[in-house]
Amino acid sequence: MFKPLWKAVFCVLALTAWGTALAAEPIVIKFSHVVAEQTPKGQGALMFKKLVEERLAGKVKVEVYPNSTLYNDDKEMEALLLGEVQMIARSLAKFEQYTKTVQLFDLPFLFEDIAALDRFQLSPEGQKLLKSMESKNITGLAYWHNGMKQLSANKPLRKPEDARGLVFRIQTSEVLAEQFKAVDAKAQPMIFSVVYQALRAGVVNGTENPYSNFYNQKLHEVQKYVTETNHGALDYMWITTSDFWNGLPPDIRTELDKIVAEVTTYTNGEAERLNQQDKQYVLNAKTTEIITLTPEERNAWREKMKPVWARFEKEIGPDLLKAAQAANQAQ
Ligand code: LMR
Repeated sequence: MFKPLWKAVFCVLALTAWGTALAAEPIVIKFSHVVAEQTPKGQGALMFKKLVEERLAGKVKVEVYPNSTLYNDDKEMEALLLGEVQMIARSLAKFEQYTKTVQLFDLPFLFEDIAALDRFQLSPEGQKLLKSMESKNITGLAYWHNGMKQLSANKPLRKPEDARGLVFRIQTSEVLAEQFKAVDAKAQPMIFSVVYQALRAGVVNGTENPYSNFYNQKLHEVQKYVTETNHGALDYMWITTSDFWNGLPPDIRTELDKIVAEVTTYTNGEAERLNQQDKQYVLNAKTTEIITLTPEERNAWREKMKPVWARFEKEIGPDLLKAAQAANQAQ
C-alpha cells in the first residue's frame, strides 16, 4: 500500500541528486580563432581564459583554440551558430552575409587611425552595430583592435599603378574586392590559414595585413615588400550567440560582463604595441623592405580607392558613414 509513496520519494531523491550533479558541471566556453597566440586577438582570448579561471573557477571553463586548430574562418561562424563553440572574435570584414552595415569598417581610407576607429566604435552608432545581428542569434560583446593594414607584394608598391594586374588575397568581402579593382588589380578571397602557401606558390602575388598577422603568419618569408599605406583597419567583433548569452545564470552573466569589459580594455591597449613589435621583427628578419610613403604618395592611393565608398553608401547607410567620418575629429 505504501509502495507508490516510497517510489515517489525515491524519484524525488534521485532527481535532486541528478540536479546537483548537473549544477556542479562547469559551463564550457569554447573560444575558437584563426590567428597566432602572440597577436592581439590571441592575447585577448588567453586573458579571457585567465580571468574566468580566477573569478569563476568551477563554474565556467574556457577552452581556447588558436591558429584555426578547431575551425577555419569559413567554418567558425557556422560552428558558433550550431553551438559547437560559444565565442569567436571575427574580423569585421567577414560579416557581410549577416549584415551590410558592418561593411562600413572595410571602406578604404575611412578612419585616419586606430584612435579614430576607437572613437567610432565607442560612439552610440558603433555600439548599436554590436546588436545589429540579434535577429540572426548573433550578439556582439565588444570590438577588439588588431591594427591598420599594410599592403605587401613581391615588387615595390609605391604608386597605385604599381598594383595593376597583381592578384591580392583578400578576406571574403565585397568592399575589399572593389578596393583592389579600383587600382586595376585582382582580388582573390581566401581563408587565412592558406595565405602563406598561396603566396609561396604564387597563386596570389600580394595581400594586406596588420603587422601582427603579417609577421606571425611568417609572410615576411614570402613577401619582399611591405608598403605602409595604413589604408584600412583589421578589427574584430567579439561575438557569441544571443541564445547562449541570454541563457546564462544571471550571477555568472554579470561577472562575465565585467570580464568582457576588462579583457577588451587590455586587448585594445596591447594591440598597437604588439603591431609595432612585429614590425620591428619584420625589419630584423631582413627579408622584407618596408616602404614608407610621402603624404602625396599616400594621397594618390586614397584618390584611387575612395570612390569605392559610393558603391556601398546606400546599403551601409549615409548617416552611419557620416558618423564614422566625424570620428576622425578628436573631441
Ligand atoms: C584574415 O583573414 O586576414 C583575418 O581576418 C584573420 C584574423 O582573424 O585576424
